[in-house]
Amino acid sequence: MIRNRFLLAALALLLGLAASAQTHRMDIDLKKVGAPVQPTMYGIFFEDINFAADGGLYAELVKNRSFEFPQDPLQGWKAFGKVEVRNDGPFERCPHYVRLVDPGHAHKWTGLDNEGFFGIGVKGGENYRFTVWARVPDGGSSELRLELVNTASMGENQFVCQMPLTVSGREWKQYEVLMTPSETLEKAVLRIFLVGKRTTVDLEHVSLFPVDTWMGHRNGMRKDLAQALADLKPGVFRFPGGCIVEGADLPTRYNWKNTVGPVENRPINENRWEYTFPHRFFPDYFQSYGLGFFEFFQLSEEIGNEPHPIPSSGKNCQFQHDDPDAHCPVDKLQPYIQDAQDMIEFANGPVTSTWGKVRADMGHPAPFNLKFIGIGNEQWDPIYPEHLEPFVKAIRAAYPDIRIVGTSGPDSEGKQFDYLWPEMKRLGADLVDEHFYRPYDWFLAQGARYDNYDRKGPKVFAGEYACHAKGRKYNHFYASLLEAAFMTTIERNADIVHMATYAPLFAHIEGWQWRPDLIWYDNLRSMRTASWHVQHLYGKYKGQNALTLKMDGANVTGAPGQDGLFASAVKDGDKVYVKVINTSERPQPVELAFTGLKKKETVRAVERVDFTSGLLYEDNTLDEPARIVPVTNDFHGEGKSLTAMVPPCCFTVFVITR
Ligand code: AHR
Repeated sequence: MIRNRFLLAALALLLGLAASAQTHRMDIDLKKVGAPVQPTMYGIFFEDINFAADGGLYAELVKNRSFEFPQDPLQGWKAFGKVEVRNDGPFERCPHYVRLVDPGHAHKWTGLDNEGFFGIGVKGGENYRFTVWARVPDGGSSELRLELVNTASMGENQFVCQMPLTVSGREWKQYEVLMTPSETLEKAVLRIFLVGKRTTVDLEHVSLFPVDTWMGHRNGMRKDLAQALADLKPGVFRFPGGCIVEGADLPTRYNWKNTVGPVENRPINENRWEYTFPHRFFPDYFQSYGLGFFEFFQLSEEIGNEPHPIPSSGKNCQFQHDDPDAHCPVDKLQPYIQDAQDMIEFANGPVTSTWGKVRADMGHPAPFNLKFIGIGNEQWDPIYPEHLEPFVKAIRAAYPDIRIVGTSGPDSEGKQFDYLWPEMKRLGADLVDEHFYRPYDWFLAQGARYDNYDRKGPKVFAGEYACHAKGRKYNHFYASLLEAAFMTTIERNADIVHMATYAPLFAHIEGWQWRPDLIWYDNLRSMRTASWHVQHLYGKYKGQNALTLKMDGANVTGAPGQDGLFASAVKDGDKVYVKVINTSERPQPVELAFTGLKKKETVRAVERVDFTSGLLYEDNTLDEPARIVPVTNDFHGEGKSLTAMVPPCCFTVFVITR
């Protein structure tokens, strides 16, 4: 409906009817330079939900590569001939492997197919690195044949790549073969044939990675997805969750110590999102931990932001299991507190320390310079501060410079929120993580959210937010517009808000449980949503200091008299970026009036970036990834004030110079 009204409004503009609309004046004070916009302000939050790690950012293409899925060690594999799963392999914490035995018949074969994550995506002409740990238990040597298979092929050959591999000796060794498919396939299968007759071969940790990963790392990230993160120039990187920090229960919590060291020996963990939504149930959703804490810290360093890990607070996920007996009692928290302290040592400790040595052995002797740590995800009731307190005491004593992030629970306001904020202040948390997945009207009512926050308390981390429209709980442009409107209160209150991260970050088009999400992908392609572009514009035009901005002499609130306009301004050297979001369905004239200029001094328009779309309830797609993107337009004028028209439903960044 709005879409039609939007079109009518656009027509009205063409007819010149807009001239009758009231011009709203944005007074921007250039003399009073406001609080610095923190380098951490606009960041990213990664959680393994929607196949964000295995099957997503983590570029491994083989599912259940170590035969460790608990219900069925061959889940994700199709075995033919004589295949036996054994459990006395070379990697203590991943003991399973497969034994392939020749069926002893000239026309029968033994082997395995791996289905990958919704298939294995390969690009024709690109190199893929197959690796496997293998041995010939009876000694001597044996032959394998590796294939990338198009199971849908009706042609002469099913395979688009075929390579031999000779395995020899009784000792476990790692073998490597480069595979270069002749064709692009979105859903290939990896096939391993035992070719050697009258032989037996053992295989463990079967892996296939594109050679061309982000920064070329062997245990690397999918390049397009990591690049989509890097392009945001995010200032902070929160990981690994989210509810996944707590798991489904304490034994399945995210145990960071299981995610470091050689990948072959990282025990898998069930993914708590496997169970959560029966409408999209993935009983084969496990965490290989191939994307673990070393990789998180490394990615954060390469992207150039502050890592912000979240260890478990010793509590269950209260959404899933809030029986008080299911949480670790406060007087037994020491192992959890030690885990958090060891995590800091892993990131920052000298190579002579226990965990600093683990980091160094993984190839990074220099510290990662960790500054922030959050304790637990969005938890509530007195049990959370009771758990948090001993962590705060221990971390303060051992690491006084580390900034501790607490939580205000899962709600943007209300009983838990009102209880937890003062508790976080009492405990001396440096920042408080707020979460809000809320509908249109909530976002429209948040224009002044942070104006009256206590300036003497902890700072704010808007750690998880997204506009979740009722009846339209999927990505679309209008939701992203309201996120942009909300972000003006963040920017105007940069003295108190120090971090903000949209959530969730990633979703596989065939593997999602939760939406909207910032970046979508299939096995070969990815797409940056309208919400991504909003984050990108805020990151790109972040500036260095907030400027005071009033609309028609009043604070920006989004109240009815302000006609759905939201605005903020920042200073960046000689430049000023004014962000105006018109959430209304008609074009609106605005005057950008600058005070604090010297008598003869003027400002000059440089350009404007307009982000709008007639497709209000749609988004980019994998087929059309660039149909809703910001456009840079001319912007002319010079003086002490500049006038401009902001189109209906548009986020405009005005770039101005002094
Ligand atoms: O982002 C998805 C989930 O939303 C997070 O895991 C949790 O913190 C919140 O409830």
